[in-house]
Amino acid sequence: MSKMHNFKFYYFKSISSTNDKAKEMADQGKSNIVVVAEKQEEGRGRFGRKWSSGLGGLYMTIVLEEKNSDKAKYMTLMASVAVAKTIKRLAKLNAMVKWPNDVLVNDKKVCGILTEIISGKKNYALIGIGLNVNQKKFDKEIIDKATSMRIESNNDFDIKSVSKLIIAELDKLYSYCAFGDYSKILSLWKKYSHTLGKKIMAKTISGTYVGTAVDIDRDCSLVLRLDDGKEQKIIEGDIFIA
Ligand code: BTN
Repeated sequence: MSKMHNFKFYYFKSISSTNDKAKEMADQGKSNIVVVAEKQEEGRGRFGRKWSSGLGGLYMTIVLEEKNSDKAKYMTLMASVAVAKTIKRLAKLNAMVKWPNDVLVNDKKVCGILTEIISGKKNYALIGIGLNVNQKKFDKEIIDKATSMRIESNNDFDIKSVSKLIIAELDKLYSYCAFGDYSKILSLWKKYSHTLGKKIMAKTISGTYVGTAVDIDRDCSLVLRLDDGKEQKIIEGDIFIA
C-alpha cells in the first residue's frame, strides 16, 4: 500500500499546546504536518480538561486537510488504533482502545486523543495525541487511572521513533479508506476494543445510560443494549465500566 501523505515533522521543546501550534501553522497554510513537543504548558483534553504534559510523554498533533468533516470521528478511531498497534509492536503490551478516544493498557489510560475540526476557507482536522511513554509516575489526581509504556513494560522508548511509527500506522489506516470505505477501520477498532461486551455507564448531555456495549455504529457512535432490551446510541460523552 502506498504512502498517502508525506508528513513533515516540526519539533518543539516546550509550547502551550501542540493543537494550538498546529492550528496556527495550518492557518498559515501548512498541511500534512506533525507538531511534536517535549512538554506542554497548557496541554488540553476533551471537555476542556487539563492533560498532564511533563517530560517523558509524547505530545503531538497531526494536521490533515479534510473536505469532509464527518471523517473526524474516524480519524480519532484511526489514531487510537494506530497508537494501540504501535504500543503492541514496541512494548509487547496488550494495548486496547476505549470508546471514543482512549488507549488503555492493563485497564489504565496510556493515551488520549483530542480531534478538533477547523472549518473555514480550508477545512482541516487537528488530531492531538497524548501518549504516556517514559513517565515513571503521575500526579495524585490521576495516579489510579493513568499509566505509561514505561510503567507497564519496564523499558524506556525513544519518543521520536514512537511518533514516527504512529504516523506510519495512521497513514496505512488512512489508505484503507481512500474510497470512503471505513469498514476496515471499524473492524480493526473492534479487534482492539476494550469497550465492547462490557457493562457501561455512559454520561451524555442528554442523560446517563447504563447497558452493555454491543457495537460501534457506522457513524462511530457506541451502541448500548439497555436492561429493558432497547438499544441506545451514544453519540458523544464519557463512558465508565459499570
Ligand atoms: C483526552 O483524553 O481528553 C484527550 C487528551 C489529548 C492530549 C493531547 S497531547 C497533544 C495534544 N495537545 C493538547 O493540548 N492536547 C492533545
